[in-house]
Amino acid sequence: MTTADGLSLATRGLRKSYGKRLALDGLDLSVPSGVVYGFLGPNGAGKTTTMRLLTGLLHPDAGTIELLGKPFRRGDRKRLFQVGALVESPSFYPYLDGRQNLRALASAGASVPAGRVEELVGLRDRARDKVAGYSLGMKQRLGIAGALLSDPKLLLLDEPANGLDPAGIVAMRETLRNLAASGKTVFVSSHLLAEVQVLADVVGIIAAGKLVREGTLDAMLNDQGVVRVRVAPAQLDAARALLEPMAAVERTGSLDGDPWLTVHLEPARAAEVNQRLASQGIFASGLESGTDLEMLFLELTGGENKGSSEGTFRAIDIAGQGQGQGAGQGRGAA
Ligand SMILES: Nc1ncnc2c1ncn2[C@@H]1O[C@H](COP(=O)(O)OP(=O)(O)O)[C@@H](O)[C@H]1O
Ligand SMILES: [Mg+2]
Repeated sequence: MTTADGLSLATRGLRKSYGKRLALDGLDLSVPSGVVYGFLGPNGAGKTTTMRLLTGLLHPDAGTIELLGKPFRRGDRKRLFQVGALVESPSFYPYLDGRQNLRALASAGASVPAGRVEELVGLRDRARDKVAGYSLGMKQRLGIAGALLSDPKLLLLDEPANGLDPAGIVAMRETLRNLAASGKTVFVSSHLLAEVQVLADVVGIIAAGKLVREGTLDAMLNDQGVVRVRVAPAQLDAARALLEPMAAVERTGSLDGDPWLTVHLEPARAAEVNQRLASQGIFASGLESGTDLEMLFLELTGGENKGSSEGTFRAIDIAGQGQGQGAGQGRGAA
């Protein structure tokens, strides 16, 4: 686990409890260099706790952290300056302008390359305005500019899109993409699947303090999609026999109501699945489709019943069973 592995950030067996509450339960992250890594998980999953550990704001109960190829030690000031971070919401001097704030930050310790303050992202025309008059988006950008002051190789950002308007989110996304294009590693958390899908090269999904999936976004999206269909228990076997000629089918349980069958088919064929069942008098009480990643994320965020080995999914029930009208596709994953 060194930079020879091409990793800018790695954790192994990271654990952290707050009192009796276990927030991180053995987290293993592997963040390659030069990518935008989307650290995706529902609220309460442990993202901010991870960020606090990575920046030395908290100390782990167990496990190791490696930043830029070397073990992380809290007192290592030099290392901290090679890693830019925006974790808790940053505070600024409201009566100084953006540029003066960055200068104040710079004089607090980091060595700042000449001209750096001037060139920093998104501040060009507003850099001389008082921060008191900044929008949340401007403050976020100033926060990122602050994190970039010492020209770090690795940038850690905890939900930087939170509170931004759509234009601000687009601008932020561009900034982060450009940073990765210039060779920096950007580790950014989000609870929004859609945001990560448009931003990240590599995705790690965290749920209940554990990493449940990690890989390139391409690989996750190129996995064949799935169509899921919900039928009455008495019709389950017949439905399965009908669908098996189309693709692999597996039963994925539900904790309440009718069971689900998962058909490994591209989402566009949802209607075909429904039609095939209906032609034999089997009317689905639920139908949904999407990519593997969407389904996984739904499973993780859709219910509290994480203890079930069968998993639980949020379903969109079809009004007027079996009409084949609405495949429940494209739900937002907020
Ligand atoms: N300061 C704290 N004291 C006690 N529990 C906390 C504290 N911070 C976070 N937690 C708990 O730890 C878990 C992970 O929280 P957090 O890391 O903030 O998740 P996320 O950032 O993914 O929403 C949650 O159950 C949360 O309630
Ligand atoms: Mg958080």
